[in-house]
Amino acid sequence: MIFVDACLKKQTPYTPIWMMRQAGRYLPEYRATRAQAGDFMSLCRNAELACEVTLQPIDILGVDAAILFSDILVIPAEMGMDLEFVKGKGPVFHDPLRNEADLKRLADDSDEKLSYVYDAIKLIRKDLAADKALIGFAGSPWTLATYMIEGGGSKTYEISKKMLYSNPSLLHAILRKNTDAIIKYLLKQIDAGVNAVQVFDSWGGALEESAFFEFSWSYMKEISAAIKAQHPEIPVILFSKGISGYLDKIDGTFDVFGVDWGTPIEKAKAAVFDRYAIQGNMEPTRLYSQEKIKEGVEHIVKVMGKEPGHIFNLGHGMLPDLPVENAKYLVDLVHELTRR
Ligand code: CP3
Repeated sequence: MIFVDACLKKQTPYTPIWMMRQAGRYLPEYRATRAQAGDFMSLCRNAELACEVTLQPIDILGVDAAILFSDILVIPAEMGMDLEFVKGKGPVFHDPLRNEADLKRLADDSDEKLSYVYDAIKLIRKDLAADKALIGFAGSPWTLATYMIEGGGSKTYEISKKMLYSNPSLLHAILRKNTDAIIKYLLKQIDAGVNAVQVFDSWGGALEESAFFEFSWSYMKEISAAIKAQHPEIPVILFSKGISGYLDKIDGTFDVFGVDWGTPIEKAKAAVFDRYAIQGNMEPTRLYSQEKIKEGVEHIVKVMGKEPGHIFNLGHGMLPDLPVENAKYLVDLVHELTRR
């Protein structure tokens, strides 16, 4: 698989590409399947329909890897938290975690309750072409904790960060619970058939340097080390958004460093490419203009060259209203410009 080879810094015929949030509302086919499922969580819990939307961007865009269709918030939902996706607002937990008693109520067997995810993986791996990789994923312990503590998305993360500075042992206990659940969940995704895993730390950048390494990166590293110890052949991708100031301190046992769009790719290359493969990092809103896509791709390809160890991606997720033909244009352009 070209994608897996690139993650392991092996030679490939061209630079593989996939896009974060490649299955989603910008595809009319996705909107039709979600309507059939009823709502977003029902889509996540329906293995056949989750398989269908996972495969849509492979067929439509020609990307080199599929990412399992699910959400990072299925773990807290299966720990027993009351999750609702509110139209126009995003995810809401009606019972946020604020104290030790709230934490004690959470179930320890979310990895077992997530069996619908493993069922979806088995179906996808059966239907996906043998040369295309299937990426499994989870949210990072910290990013999940922000949703669990705030009760939804946040601009300031004030409740989580107040806990970080005033009751750090409670935050560590929450992160411990999430880390244990994530490791069990990702190992079961691998047993079901995924070919690589990515940990999404979307809100790592909400933390100052010392807090980032203590409350987010240390747990991400623990997850990747646990997976690599059991499955050295499975690439692990770590993606923390908003941490370009701390690149020189990135360490740990993993394969691919996911670069966000706010980090100049040459800086990421200088800081980590001697140790890790690099994934990224075109600014996602360039997808609104083919001219700007071309400019973005040419720059990234010039910096990363045709050496092994680059996976092309966006520097964060796709947006719901972008033109499908531009996403297709991006995939074809990356393949064309990087052919060895
Ligand atoms: O990448 C993929 O195609 C795979 C599927 C995937 C989804 N969410 C589907 C989804 C993945 C990998 C995620 C990860 C995820 N979910 C993250 C980390 C990645 C990132 O973007 O930083 C986060 C922070 C979440 C939490 C989440 N889920 C939010 C904030 C929202 C609302 C977003 C919005 O724009 O309304 C979701 C819902 C969600 N997850 C949608 C999709 C396709 C939209 C749901 C819909 O309306 O159909």
